[in-house]
Amino acid sequence: MVNILIFGPPGSGKGTQSVRLAEKFNLLHLSTGDMLRAEIAAGTELGKKMSAIMSKGELVPDEVVIEMIAAKIDGVKDKSGFLFDGFPRTVAQTVALEKMLNDRNMKINSMLTLDVDHDELVKRLIARAELSGRPDDKDPAVIENRIDVYREKTEPIIDFCRQKGLYQPVNGVGSIDDIFDRLSALVSELV
Ligand code: AP5
Ligand code: MG
Repeated sequence: MVNILIFGPPGSGKGTQSVRLAEKFNLLHLSTGDMLRAEIAAGTELGKKMSAIMSKGELVPDEVVIEMIAAKIDGVKDKSGFLFDGFPRTVAQTVALEKMLNDRNMKINSMLTLDVDHDELVKRLIARAELSGRPDDKDPAVIENRIDVYREKTEPIIDFCRQKGLYQPVNGVGSIDDIFDRLSALVSELV
């Protein structure tokens, strides 16, 4: 099983590209953001607690997402691997993921990182707010906070993964199809 992180700031296209890559390469797409939004939609206690944090654009506690991922990775037989989208988001989550995979004789194989400049991120997220219904897309101040939180808490993962030879930057600006081709070329080397 191959384990690929699709990494990048909010609005960089992780979700858009993950859906396509998962289909093309028979990978299980695991998005902690989607899982958390499903909890909110289902009205669970966890969802109620996390919703306030998410609508401010802050990160939910590491343990919450680590548990969610741990619950999904066992017993998967018909897939070629996992595509992690929006997880890990802190160095602590990265260490936890490595341990989880290690315990199962697996490892992180690559960290594909979508590079997109700040103004393009904001433009995409403001445009998406019309359709997504996501409270964290509605307020430009929350969009800025999500980008700040990414720079402060999430971006340090790049150095952590670069030291392990896992970091693969990808130009995330251009048409969705062109970016998909760039990512596909890298993923086809891994699966
Ligand atoms: P999450 O759901 O992960 O959101 P995010 O990181 O803010 O990223 P987005 O989903 O907004 O962007 P994306 O990169 O997936 O881009 P997309 O493909 O949608 O997290 C939400 C919240 O949940 C967090 O803030 C946090 O509170 C919590 N959370 C989740 N995981 C967590 C974790 N591990 N730890 C702690 N907390 C966690 O594209 C964006 C838009 O751009 C779309 O409209 C798309 O159509 C468009 N687009 C895509 N590609 C292009 C292109 N090439 N050109 C033009 N437009 C494009
Ligand atoms: Mg997403």
